[in-house]
Parts: sequence; structure tokens; C-alpha cells
Amino acid sequence: MKKCVIVGIGQRSLQAYVIPLTKELADCVEICGVYDLNHKRAACAAKFTGCDIPVFDDFDTMLEETRPDVVLVTTIDSCHDEYIIKALEFGCDVITEKPMTTDDMKCNAILEAEKRTGKDLKVTFNARFRPFYTRVKELMDSGIVGDVLSVHFEWMLGTKHGGDYFRRWHRQRKNSGSLLIHKSTHHFDLLNWWINDEPEAVNAFGSLRFYGPTREERGERCLTCAYKDKCEFYFDLPTDEFLGQLYYENEDVDGYYRDRCIFSDEIDIEDSVAVNIKYKKGTVVCYTLTAYSPYEGCKIVFNGSKGRLEVDHIRTGINSENPYSIRLYNALGEEIKYNFKKEEIVTTAVQSANGLTRDNDTGHGGSDPLMRAMLFRGVSSDPLGHIANSRAGAYSIGIGIAANKSMKEHRQVSLSEFLPYTD
Ligand SMILES: NC(=O)c1ccc[n+]([C@@H]2O[C@H](COP(=O)([O-])OP(=O)(O)OC[C@H]3O[C@@H](n4cnc5c(N)ncnc54)[C@H](O)[C@@H]3O)[C@@H](O)[C@H]2O)c1
Repeated sequence: MKKCVIVGIGQRSLQAYVIPLTKELADCVEICGVYDLNHKRAACAAKFTGCDIPVFDDFDTMLEETRPDVVLVTTIDSCHDEYIIKALEFGCDVITEKPMTTDDMKCNAILEAEKRTGKDLKVTFNARFRPFYTRVKELMDSGIVGDVLSVHFEWMLGTKHGGDYFRRWHRQRKNSGSLLIHKSTHHFDLLNWWINDEPEAVNAFGSLRFYGPTREERGERCLTCAYKDKCEFYFDLPTDEFLGQLYYENEDVDGYYRDRCIFSDEIDIEDSVAVNIKYKKGTVVCYTLTAYSPYEGCKIVFNGSKGRLEVDHIRTGINSENPYSIRLYNALGEEIKYNFKKEEIVTTAVQSANGLTRDNDTGHGGSDPLMRAMLFRGVSSDPLGHIANSRAGAYSIGIGIAANKSMKEHRQVSLSEFLPYTD
């Protein structure tokens, strides 16, 4: 039985870890304590599970009194580093939510602490575990496109999901490092993993023209807004059964309003970004992120020496006959379709190899249950390398950090300027 403590008891923590760990993984993990800046939100761990989960007043006391094997970090992004480093120094292994951290100084401090303490840090890139993205990895590893010469990678967030990042802490760089770190870390990690390479240099542009102070009719938050009857983005927080209890009922402690106005002038992150990346083996990449799209999904093209692989995934917003599509165009001019069934019913090879089945919880296309099982039950076989270490964490945020520097300093940025790797 592994002893685990959790720091940061918000939506992700409860839905992806606290609740499932007390159910499907109760035979191998015990949650010995939780800590959050907001003690009332921390108490939601017990409230939502019905289990006796102690709430601590500070993180250090929690470590001292529980002596855990593993610390799970699920706070806002900008303080992951503080808890990762303290936990490593205390002698614990750490599992941190993505992004590993938000800037180069914090990233290097984490890498140094991991090296110095000899403890293990894993980053939860659950997107890798989606059966559809696992299939892309299998195809890329099989060499069907040959050497990867270039990639077009377009990611679209719908206004419901994308807009949500502009309602709360993510909207300020000091908390999230911008969407290039907070959100794109998933995409950059998938890219690095799929093409089996590491990024070398980055050039980027970005703008904020959809959200932010783009209209006069705005307020501090939806709850008190004078324009709530006509705003298409109005969000009724108190009546949301889960979010109302988690945020609205606890906002007296810390003033965390979950329904802040997406047209606020406090917002300092981009809603459109365009990034060019050059990889160590020579692949060149065009990446874009749009946070206000009518539908949500991704369109990715790998141009290789043997052919072109086109990957489309329509996640929400339109009814597509085929939301999952993978097509290869080979050197003979043929089109080969790799059919993909609904994600929930696909069993991937990595799942079979580890004897893992999924229950009805299909969080993030079935990726969360599979990742949890592999992280907490242990892994007997990881042939595609689903479990991500700190190096993967660093190279995925490395692209975002370089892009942030590139936009600020109007220049191309090499990752070797701030990452410690020499090979
Ligand atoms: N992998 C995924 O698919 C996925 C999805 C959503 C969120 N996340 C990640 O999970 C983490 C949490 O996101 P969320 O959506 O649950 O946010 P949230 O706002 O719901 O929860 C964050 C919690 O951190 C607490 N907190 C803030 N500063 C703190 C500090 N200094 N010390 C202790 N606690 C502090 C807040 O009070 C809050 O309860 C983030 O790192 C986010 O990037 C990952």
C-alpha cells in the first residue's frame, strides 16, 4: 500500500485523483492527507468521497506527520515547483500535474533537486494515454512516413472550454505562464513523443484579440454583472452542482471567483499563437493554438520521406460523422485509412500488456483511468513510453518558455539557452 498526500484540492485533483483513488485504487493507495491554501476547498476531499481524509494547515507539517511515499502536486501551475522541490528534499517521489512548471528558473531548480535527491519525478501527460493518440504513436513508431521532415499542428479550443481559461487564474501569466505553457504543454509533449525527438529552437508570435478588454459591456464577474441577460458567455456558478460547491461556497476564504469576466483588462495571456519549432534531427514544425474556435479538436499533418500522415480529431462543437480520422498518403499516391472506433471501446496494446481494463469512467477519452492505473499500480510493460519523466516535462514546457521569450524579445530562442541538457 502506497502512502500518498495531495497538495492543491481543486477540480482536477478531485475528479482525476481524490475520488478515483478512494475507489478503483483503494487497494493500493491510501490518501493520508491533503493541503490547499483554501482549507474549506481542501475539506472537499472528504466531503466528495465520504472518506476520512485529514486536512493539514501547512504542507511541511503534512509531510512530517504522514511520511508519505509519494506526493501528488495539483495546485495552480506557478507553485508546482515549490511543492515538488520540498517533497523531493523530504525524500518522497513526486507525481506532478502538467505543466511541470511555468518558467526556466523554476524548471532548472526542479531538475537540480531531482538530480541531487535521487528521487523520482513524473509528469502526468494524460493525453498520451488517449487510445487515439496512442494509435498515432504506434503508427509513427512503425516508420510509415519515414523520416519526419515537417509537421503542421493545429489545435482548436472551443469557446466553452477555451473561454474558461480566461475566467480564472490561467488568465494571468504569473499563474499559468500563458496558454503556451498551461495548455500547449500537452500538445508539445505529444509532438515530442510522436516524432521521438527533442526541440532545439523556437520562434513565436501571439495576440489577444477575442477575449480581454474587447467590449465595453463587461463586469467583474458573471454573478454580479449588469449584462448577464445578454452576454453569450454568462456562466451561472452558484447553480452548478459541482463547481458551485467547490468554488462558490468557498470563495469567502480566498476570493477565488470561478466566474470572472472573460473581457477583463486583467487578462495578459494570448488567445491566438503561432509557433515555429526546429527539432534536433531537423524536423521543422508550424504550430497554432486558437482559443475561441466554433468547434474543438486538432488537425495534424506529418510530412515524411515515405509519405504524409493526416490526423484529425474533432472533439466537440460539430457533429462529425467521423470524429477520429487517420489517413496515410504514400509515395505511390495511394490513400490508406486507419479506421478508429469510438475511443471508449478501444483497447490499446499498452493496456493489454499491463492487464488494465477501464471502468465506466472515461475521463479525457479514457486516458485518465489508464494513466492512474499505470502510475499507482505500477507498470509491467511500457513499450511506447507512456509514463513521462522530468526530461519530457522540461522539453514540453521548454517550447512554451522559448516561445514566451521569443514573443517578448522579438527573436529566435534556442532551448539550450536555459535547459541544462548537453546530449
Ligand atoms: N492533465 C489534465 O488534463 C489537466 C486538466 C485540468 C487541470 N490540470 C492541471 O491541474 C492543476 C490544477 O488545476 P485545476 O483546474 O484543478 O485548478 P483549480 O483552480 O480547480 O485548483 C487549484 C487549487 O490550487 C490551490 N492553490 C493555489 N495556490 C496554492 C498554493 N500556493 N498552495 C496550495 N494550494 C494552492 C487553489 O486553492 C485550488 O484549490 C493545474 O496544474 C492544471 O494545469 C490538468
